[in-house]
Amino acid sequence: MTQRIHPIDVILHKRDGLALTDAEIRAFVLAIVKRTPRRQLVTDAQIAAFLMAVFLRGLDARELATLTEAMRFSGEVAYTEALNTFAIDKHSTGGVGDKTSLLIAPILAAAGLAHPTSEGVPGIVVPMISGRSLGHTGGTLDKLETIPGFNTQLPFPEMRDILKQCGAALIGQTPKIVPADRILYALRDHTGTVESPFLITASIMSKKLAESLNALVLDVKVGSGAFMPTYEKSKLLAELMVETGEASGTRTVALLTTMDEPLGRFSGNWVEVWECVDIMKQHRHPMSRDLIELSNILSGWALYLADHAISPEDGAVLSDEYLRSGEAYKAWLKIINAQGGDTSLFEDPAAHHKPAATRTLTAPTSGYLAAMDCKRAGWAVQRLGAGRAKPGAPVSAHAGIEMHAKLGDKLEANQPLVTLFSEDASLLDEPEAMLRETLQIAPTLPKLQPLIREVITKTNLPQ
Ligand code: URA
Repeated sequence: MTQRIHPIDVILHKRDGLALTDAEIRAFVLAIVKRTPRRQLVTDAQIAAFLMAVFLRGLDARELATLTEAMRFSGEVAYTEALNTFAIDKHSTGGVGDKTSLLIAPILAAAGLAHPTSEGVPGIVVPMISGRSLGHTGGTLDKLETIPGFNTQLPFPEMRDILKQCGAALIGQTPKIVPADRILYALRDHTGTVESPFLITASIMSKKLAESLNALVLDVKVGSGAFMPTYEKSKLLAELMVETGEASGTRTVALLTTMDEPLGRFSGNWVEVWECVDIMKQHRHPMSRDLIELSNILSGWALYLADHAISPEDGAVLSDEYLRSGEAYKAWLKIINAQGGDTSLFEDPAAHHKPAATRTLTAPTSGYLAAMDCKRAGWAVQRLGAGRAKPGAPVSAHAGIEMHAKLGDKLEANQPLVTLFSEDASLLDEPEAMLRETLQIAPTLPKLQPLIREVITKTNLPQ
């Protein structure tokens, strides 16, 4: 006879520093998703205690893999393997102006469409489940939803149809996908247990692995705009995610990338779609150079993992060719059309940008743009209306900023530094003050970090 596992015993074991058994972890996660108001298999207080025990004691690699798998299968999974092709995705831990998903999905879709399988399915598919803006960072779904008609709420069978036709689909999480994470995440927010690298890994990887991927490229941010406060903590998170992805049979690579300033030209919602459309239509604004570089590097890794390139570097060159040839733009139009979006706006994306108020900050002195607190710049973007004041609130399509200089650029006094956009003129003052305070100009060229700091793969994980 099997013995029933009681939530209190799981909590006590973790509290006392013991490794949990796989059965204990699975039983705990099952209790979380199977409970009803009348049948409290586990109470909120017990879940909170479990989270704090994990926060303080951590998890070993086996426990983390089991927790992630239990969460992944707590709801619906994509079953992308039914398409008999190579499924891959990219995930970022969140940044400011980080719109690489809007370029990488069509680049990889273009590669997949150019090399179909013998069954006529794109040779690569990207079943991308994206999130909304969180804290100081923007959200891919909020950006995409500025395209009139674009539907991000697609069930998995419909997503698979779009993958077959277009090579990529860009959807949002539904209550049926990884429900365990929704419950755990909400409680983490109230119990001071968000910043655990173990809980973040299980949360992110359970959702990514629910896409049924062959490979995953992770962009783990480091620097003043990253969620993780130190380089070491970002690196630990990257290592845990790579280890967990590989343990589930998904080739996983993490790039530690610098987030010391907004990525690209614009940060906001529609303005970020506009910037990507411009790039795909060969209008390469000089301020978009870091965005293009990072997108090509991340796509390059994806093309390499999918066996479409002989090295990540070769993949990056190939990625840029898909952008320059217009193939990525064709794939983008196909994806947006298939998900109900109005593509006519892309003919002149600048004309669709309709903020009610704009204000430009200029350099107070000449010198070099030397430093900024990128998180503070991200909060300024959110307070212009691009983010949510509270969960569920709408975001403004036309709020955001345009950077006119990158870190290390030489500036003359009174040269434009940043333009602020809002749909409500009364929202401009606070973000203006935040940006004015954080953008530092110095007489000498600052020391800048490279865009890519380190690459973590299964071969260089600590033993
Ligand atoms: N994003 C997630 O999905 N989960 C976390 O825990 C943190 C960031």
